[in-house]
Amino acid sequence: RKDLLGLKGVPAEEIQEILKNAKMLKQLISQPSKKASHLSGKTVITLFYENSTRTRMSFELAGKYLSANVANISASASSVQKGETLIDTGKTLDVMGTDVIVIRHPMSGAPHLLAKNVKASVINAGDGINEHPTQALLDMFTMKEKLGDLKGLEVAILGDIYHSRVARSNIFGLTTMGAHVTVCGPGTLLPGGIEKLGASATLDARAAVRNADVVMALRIQRERQKGGLFPSVREYHQFYGVDEELLSLARPHALVMHPGPVNRGVELTSSVDDGEQSVITEQVTNGVAVRMALLYLLTRRA
Ligand code: CP
Repeated sequence: RKDLLGLKGVPAEEIQEILKNAKMLKQLISQPSKKASHLSGKTVITLFYENSTRTRMSFELAGKYLSANVANISASASSVQKGETLIDTGKTLDVMGTDVIVIRHPMSGAPHLLAKNVKASVINAGDGINEHPTQALLDMFTMKEKLGDLKGLEVAILGDIYHSRVARSNIFGLTTMGAHVTVCGPGTLLPGGIEKLGASATLDARAAVRNADVVMALRIQRERQKGGLFPSVREYHQFYGVDEELLSLARPHALVMHPGPVNRGVELTSSVDDGEQSVITEQVTNGVAVRMALLYLLTRRA
């Protein structure tokens, strides 16, 4: 494939291939040199129209570890501020010899529009409330590394499901791999039609977490909540915040995950965030491995 725009419709074999390559490339991160030549001569540009720490930096490091030329553009410091369109920005990068454009954009579908108009491979690093496929891939990598086969896993995802591109990509990826996903949150943050995506939905956090293998908390995205529908932070934490008591309902080996950034004391208590079951920091490391794999696989095409 030329691009990775989402996990909807991506077959299990392709997800397995990405995770297998990520496992091999992860070893590079702990080597003293942190250098391999897989992307020698390739150019990767990150084009971010929204803030990011983890995704942007892990793409940059993934490219550098594999010897690519890597450059970053912030929309706030580019000619986008002078009115340049996304397509014109993409074509400008194309003619500079860019092989991969990694884009994050507040509008759902922006990476798809870019991909249709550039020769470079496009990777979606998060588009509006649509998808964040590389986050779901690193989440699946972490689950597989810690728990083995994804098939049959019970994954509970709690939080602002309505605005979450991470939830959507995880639902697509995990259900393809044979896991069962239950999403949970207040009614104002829970979209309809979840069952059509092959997942379950509940308003009851205790029911969602009971016997789960993975408890994934998602950030409350106040920047996307325009309608004042949100319960207060205090109410959210009271009913949906993951504390030790709620976590005790999950299976004893259950993983605690969060894509970050975490609002400590809202989605998770600090004791759970930093607790023995938390793999949140490992998710970040795995993000570099998965992004190395994707850059390698997409630039390998003829
Ligand atoms: N998880 C994630 O996308 O984090 P950033 O916003 O820091 O990239």
